[in-house]
Amino acid sequence: MKGLVFSLALALSVLYVQADVPLQPDFQQDKIQGKWYCLGLASNSSLFRKHAKDHMKDSFTTVLTTTDDGNVNVLTTIPKQDRCEKQNRTYIKTDVPGRFLTKNPRYGEDHVHSVVETNYDEYLLAHSTKSTGRQVFNILTMYSRNEDVSPEVIEKFRALAHKFEIGDDCIVYLEKADKCTSDD
Ligand SMILES: *[C@@H]1O[C@H](CO)[C@@H](O)[C@H](O)[C@H]1NC(C)=O
Ligand SMILES: *[C@@H]1O[C@H](CO)[C@@H](O)[C@H](O)[C@H]1NC(C)=O
Repeated sequence: MKGLVFSLALALSVLYVQADVPLQPDFQQDKIQGKWYCLGLASNSSLFRKHAKDHMKDSFTTVLTTTDDGNVNVLTTIPKQDRCEKQNRTYIKTDVPGRFLTKNPRYGEDHVHSVVETNYDEYLLAHSTKSTGRQVFNILTMYSRNEDVSPEVIEKFRALAHKFEIGDDCIVYLEKADKCTSDD
């Protein structure tokens, strides 16, 4: 019981921090389904600052599907040296439309994912609050329906990063990968 109260308190405090995170008004979950290209990442994680700029350059794809119970299945395909790595996750819906939870498999803490802004058929900007043990950090993601994205969307993404005090040196733009972008 004590553990339950504690984890509830933790979950509430993680949700509370989200008060600053904007959400797409009138969010329509069925319309975010299908394939997206991830073309931008930004984060205030110190690991990201150190490594992402040098090591991340290929875009990856994510296929979103609404499950029968209203959650979102997130299937990501990431190009690695000689293969395509697939990650299959379920984002659990919350009472707030556009906001989802996952658990950190290693530490059991809640990650909160929010759809900040989307027009459904062109771009989707997402915010996640994650934690690895002690460090809490934000990750912003720029998704596009196509393998490139308009300068206007890039500008929206930059502005969003700046809103979360993430500077241009912690924004990575990913380029079209020559593999792992087909549906298989
Ligand atoms: C992903 O996981 C969900 C449920 O956990 C399952 O229904 C679905 O078939 C999985 N998809 C793939 C491609 O593995
Ligand atoms: C990242 O930003 C969030 C608030 O926007 C803050 O709570 C967190 O401590 C920051 N993390 C790092 C590693 O700077």
